[in-house]
Amino acid sequence: MSKKTIESELGSILKQVTARLSKANTLEEVYAVRNEFSGKGSVLQQLLQSLKELSPEDRPLVGAKVNEAKKSIESDIERALLFLANKESIEKDEQRDIDVTAPFHVSNPHVAPFDSIGTPHPLQYEINRMLDIFTSMGFIPFEGRELDTDYYVFDSLNMPKEHPARQNWDTFRTEDNLIPTPHTSNMQVRIMRHLKTAPLRAVIYGRVARNEAADAVHGHTFYQIEGLYIDKGVSVSNMIATINAFVEAFFGRKVVGKIQPGYFPFVEPGIEYMGQCPFCDGVGCVSCKHTGWLELVGAGMIHPNVLREGGFDPKEYSGFAWGLGLDRMVMQRNGIQDIRSLFASDIRFLQSTI
Ligand code: PHE
Repeated sequence: MSKKTIESELGSILKQVTARLSKANTLEEVYAVRNEFSGKGSVLQQLLQSLKELSPEDRPLVGAKVNEAKKSIESDIERALLFLANKESIEKDEQRDIDVTAPFHVSNPHVAPFDSIGTPHPLQYEINRMLDIFTSMGFIPFEGRELDTDYYVFDSLNMPKEHPARQNWDTFRTEDNLIPTPHTSNMQVRIMRHLKTAPLRAVIYGRVARNEAADAVHGHTFYQIEGLYIDKGVSVSNMIATINAFVEAFFGRKVVGKIQPGYFPFVEPGIEYMGQCPFCDGVGCVSCKHTGWLELVGAGMIHPNVLREGGFDPKEYSGFAWGLGLDRMVMQRNGIQDIRSLFASDIRFLQSTI
C-alpha cells in the first residue's frame, strides 16, 4: 500500500468508527466496533502491517499517524462503553422500582432477611418519651451543650466567683477554660434570651458530667431533662402540678408527690420533689430502697437575678425551673439495678429492657 492509500484508509476508518459509535445503543454494538476496528485482525492492525511497504522516510511519519488514530479510536470505544454501561444500569434500577424506605432485603435479592431488628438505647427511648410528654404540654425542646463557659454554667445562674455552691459542680476544664457541663441549667439564660417572650416554655435534654465516684446509683456522666416556664403570675402550685403531671405520665400511673426544701442558688424557694414509689405504693421495695419514696426532681421558682440576667423583669414575671436525672428515672421505671449497665453495651441487656 502506498502512503496515500494508507492515509485515506485511515481517514475513512476514523469516520466509520465515529459514525458507528454515535449510533450504538447497546454494549454489544460497541463490542462489534471494537472487534472490527481495533485489536488483533482488525483493519487497523492490517494498516500497521502495511507500514513495512513504505519507504524508510515515510514510515515514521505515517506510523505516527496510524498510532495516533489507534489511540483515539480506543479511547472513543472506552468512552462509549462507559456511557452505555451507566445508562443500562440506571435503566435497570428504574425498572426495579426500589422502595428506598424498605429494609434492605426487600429490594436486594442478595441480602438475607433480618431475623431481628435493633432497638433504640433505653436512654434514647426514654428521652423521646419524656420529650413527647413535655411537648404535648406546650414545651419547646432544646438540646443542651456538653461544654460551656463559666458564665453560663455559674455566673448567669446566680453563682458568682467564690460562691461555695460552685464546688459541687466544678468538674475539670479544657485548655480553653471550658467546663463539661455539670447540669443542663446552663441553658436557662441562653434560652430566655433566645425566646425573649412570655409565656416561655422550654424543655432541655442533655448529657452532663459530675465529679462523682461511680457506683450502682451514681454515674459521672448522665442525662438530665430540664424545664423552664416563665409567665406573669406563675406560682409554686403551678410548678408542683406540672411536675406531678409529668411524673404520672412518665410512670403511667397515679403518683403521690411530696416536696421538701432543697437548695439551688438559681431558684428561690428551691425544692426536691419526691414521688411515692409507684411500685410498692409507699410500702417499701427494692426500687425505692425501702423508703417508700423516690427522689425524682430538683426544682424551684427561678431566682430574680436569673430572670433579670435572661432579660425578664422579676417584678412583672415569675417562673419555675426543674432538673431531673434521666438515668435514675429510667432505672426506676424499668427496674434496672445498676446504672452502669446503661453504658456497658451488653446486647442482652439492651434487648431486654424495652
Ligand atoms: N440543676 C440542678 C441539678 O443539677 C437541678 C435543678 C434545675 C434545680 C432547675 C432547680 C432548678 O441538680
